[in-house]
Amino acid sequence: MTILLNATPAPARDIDGKAISALVLDEVREEVEVLARQQIFPALAVLLVGEDPASEVYVRNKLLRAREVGIRSLEYRLAENASQAEVLDLIAQLNADVTVNGILVQLPLPAHIDEAAVIHAIDPIKDVDGFHRENVGGLVQGIEVLTPCTPSGCMRLLHETCGDLSGKHAVVIGRSNIVGKPMATLLLQADCSVSVVHSRSVDAPALCRLADIVVAAVGRPGLIDASWLKPGAVVIDVGINRISSESGNRLVGDVDYASARTVASAITPVPGGVGPMTIAYLLKNTLIASQLQRAVGIRQAEPAFA
Ligand code: GUN
Repeated sequence: MTILLNATPAPARDIDGKAISALVLDEVREEVEVLARQQIFPALAVLLVGEDPASEVYVRNKLLRAREVGIRSLEYRLAENASQAEVLDLIAQLNADVTVNGILVQLPLPAHIDEAAVIHAIDPIKDVDGFHRENVGGLVQGIEVLTPCTPSGCMRLLHETCGDLSGKHAVVIGRSNIVGKPMATLLLQADCSVSVVHSRSVDAPALCRLADIVVAAVGRPGLIDASWLKPGAVVIDVGINRISSESGNRLVGDVDYASARTVASAITPVPGGVGPMTIAYLLKNTLIASQLQRAVGIRQAEPAFA
């Protein structure tokens, strides 16, 4: 018998968000083709207020991917100094337009606009972000509603990596409305035991070391390293932090990738992990929105310019 002393454990394998998002986009493309044969043409409206450079990139990518899978995408731009009334007027028009199935208002909005008022002006059945309180409540109650895209994408990464999640202990680090809270809810629905760790938690690393699954969504570059992880943990890094240095800009996650991969069994890289999943699930949500609207009998006229 050979005993290996001081053997270095194998590094974690990467969870390939690009490859898994390509599977999701293929699923969407196939469904779009089926719907087109029935003269149904799902459409997504994206509204950007102002000229935030990061938001410009996100919106461009959303529109591009939508077109690639055959979803009609409509881009709306308002100036940085647009009034809240102008934003609400546009949302009212899009709510009333039966050829528009999904509405996304890119966040953050300029400081003079009340974000909650805008989110709650969107018809919940067109709220492809899943941020409306009606959808948040439905998610918690396990009703079929539109669900936030990033947590949905993370769940797909976890299912592709681990299969059944039942009975696993998941720790979500961060409690935002966009990621942390819906992520914890989705993990609970998948029969995990769920803990949410946040800035007031006592000994966050010790709580995290109990986890089979760690989802990090705090926006603190490299906060979570190997010392936070149980050997073999599966790590999903939602963080996208832009770091500027003399050698240029680079993106890093909330997890110290080099350190964490010495202990974890699987980990999402940044970039190329969670990022591509968010857009893929936005497009899936657009199809779900179209289907929910058909189920309640909203007529979906063929657009004259389709
Ligand atoms: N800004 C950053 N992430 C998001 C998102 O998921 N949806 C919207 N609408 N804006 C964002």
